[in-house]
Amino acid sequence: MIAKASAPAKAILFGEHSVVYGEPAIAGAVNKRAYITVKESECEKSIFRAPNINFEAELLTREKKYILRKGKPGIIRYILESVYRAHDHTPIDITLTSNVPIGSGLGSSAAVTVATLAALYRYHNIRFNKQSLAHDAHMVEQAVQGVASPLDTLVSTYGGLVYLSRNKKVERFNVNFNVPFVVGYTTKHGNTGKMVKDVKNLKDRNPKIINPVITAMGNLTNYAKQAILKRDFNKVGELMNINHGFLDVIGVNTLELSRMVYNAREAGAIGSKTTGAGGGGSIIALCPGKVDEVAKAIARDDNILKIHFTRKGVSSRVYQ
Ligand code: MEV
Repeated sequence: MIAKASAPAKAILFGEHSVVYGEPAIAGAVNKRAYITVKESECEKSIFRAPNINFEAELLTREKKYILRKGKPGIIRYILESVYRAHDHTPIDITLTSNVPIGSGLGSSAAVTVATLAALYRYHNIRFNKQSLAHDAHMVEQAVQGVASPLDTLVSTYGGLVYLSRNKKVERFNVNFNVPFVVGYTTKHGNTGKMVKDVKNLKDRNPKIINPVITAMGNLTNYAKQAILKRDFNKVGELMNINHGFLDVIGVNTLELSRMVYNAREAGAIGSKTTGAGGGGSIIALCPGKVDEVAKAIARDDNILKIHFTRKGVSSRVYQ
């Protein structure tokens, strides 16, 4: 039997970092996906391979360890944790293919985790629904990263543009927000766990300054929700620009990120900001009618990806 699943990557529009402190956030599934195939192993061993990135490892599923055969470890810890939780240790063969560029900051770990769990549940005929899958994938991310909000795994599971409220209620936007974005990314990567810790330390040292900023980021996200519902793109863009300023205040922007943000604005983006954890990584620019100009401006120094949000979340099936 072969089980296959795929899940979309995501981009955070509003609320990175402040979401860690219970503030709302808005993120959307994008038209880039991770694809997982699970089948019985042809040898006595469990193998994980990702041919796109020339990666292969033998999985020691009971010990949650791996023996590297080729490539650089990265995503492997999410695979191992998922296998540990959803598989019975018989030899299996897991293959990952993905059209999410490495280092583009589009949350490939959540997409890979959601797709891996869904494929394993199918393989073992374990019943699941989107709620249980999003929950289990969040547990995997938390086990691997130490800290993780449920945002990435929710978006990769449900698809669409998602609003996570202050009391952790999930709402999917029921509007067409199919506007073009350009993602710019650098070769320097931030480490999410470290960035979250750095913000916490800054906040602990300066509570009277940083706490109101975190609250303001949450309020801004709620204004953005209203603007999205009205399809008021200019307002969404303005709020993205303000949000970038807040991310500067909490110390997660870098020279490269702000260079991409301002290159995008100069080329006609109506809003641009760091997306994700920062410290390196990526920015997102809203640029209706100016995609090519914005992409060209960012690509002078950095890498680009043209994306749009999609309603398609996880999908999975088995082949006998
Ligand atoms: C990382 O994509 C987003 C952060 O808010 C961390 C998290 O939500 O787990 C920085």
